Amino acid sequence: MPDQPRHLLDIDCLDDSDLHGLIDRACALAGGAQPQVLDRTVTNLFFEPSTRTRISFELAASRLGMRVINMELDRSSTAKGEGLEDTVATLAAMGVDCIVFRHADNGRCRGLVDAGKIVPALINAGEGTTAHPSQALLDAATLRSRGMELSGLRLAIIGDVRHSRVAASGLALWSRLGVEEVRLAGPEGMMPEDLPLAGVRHCRNLEEAVADVDVIMMLRVQRERIDRAGWPDPEHYHRQWGLQSAHLEHARPGCVVMHPGPINRGMEIAAEVADGEHSLILEQVRMGVFMRMAIFEWVFA
Ligand code: NCD
Repeated sequence: MPDQPRHLLDIDCLDDSDLHGLIDRACALAGGAQPQVLDRTVTNLFFEPSTRTRISFELAASRLGMRVINMELDRSSTAKGEGLEDTVATLAAMGVDCIVFRHADNGRCRGLVDAGKIVPALINAGEGTTAHPSQALLDAATLRSRGMELSGLRLAIIGDVRHSRVAASGLALWSRLGVEEVRLAGPEGMMPEDLPLAGVRHCRNLEEAVADVDVIMMLRVQRERIDRAGWPDPEHYHRQWGLQSAHLEHARPGCVVMHPGPINRGMEIAAEVADGEHSLILEQVRMGVFMRMAIFEWVFA
């Protein structure tokens, strides 16, 4: 049995030194540190649409000198019905060293690793509603790179928490980083089913959630994971749960607003807030490339 490669399946597979090492390294790379050169091949295997995650993994790989293959699923044997395990084994046999993987179902990454076949290093780039570790890590690096001390932060995560893999990985990460307080808020049908969550404060409305926080993380309403009957009216949602400029007055001075994107403008967040001076949304995208460089370096360390 060949040595198992390193995988990034979720936040829990990282120990504390990995977590801090990845955040520090992403910040160092953003500050101009010399990247490693990796003579490796990576395949992007995305079963769900993506703009920023896929392209930032691609850019990160090319900044490290890696070869990148973007698999076009509709023109590959997947379209002929080839199973996932066979596709992955085929890529491994051709010498692909790493697969960046996104899928709508939970547990696919773990299933591939546990199936026991030869798998290249796997990076979970967003899976179902449970895990999106690189997004949580880049969010932490974005805050750190602004000089914010993570352990002292009060942070509110607001919106469609139930269907958000960003929130799931975020909750796993923020507790590990020892933030002062994590609050969750959202419409009843979009809050996690297994409430209360340990160590998390639940808020009934947006005003309560943002009061005196340092970081407001808004979540996209996940249209593709909600059946039509449960899809909220955008204007109604915006009135109750959409972040507007007036809300920021209740947060701590200098508070920042985050959103993993893509944004439903005018639904979970007003355009003036998304584009306003408190917004870190494009900074998250920028840091995403550095975090993914750090992740590739870690995978092949
Ligand atoms: C997230 C995703 O796809 O999981 N976006 C992202 O990766 N930047 C969040 C979302 O789609 O809402």
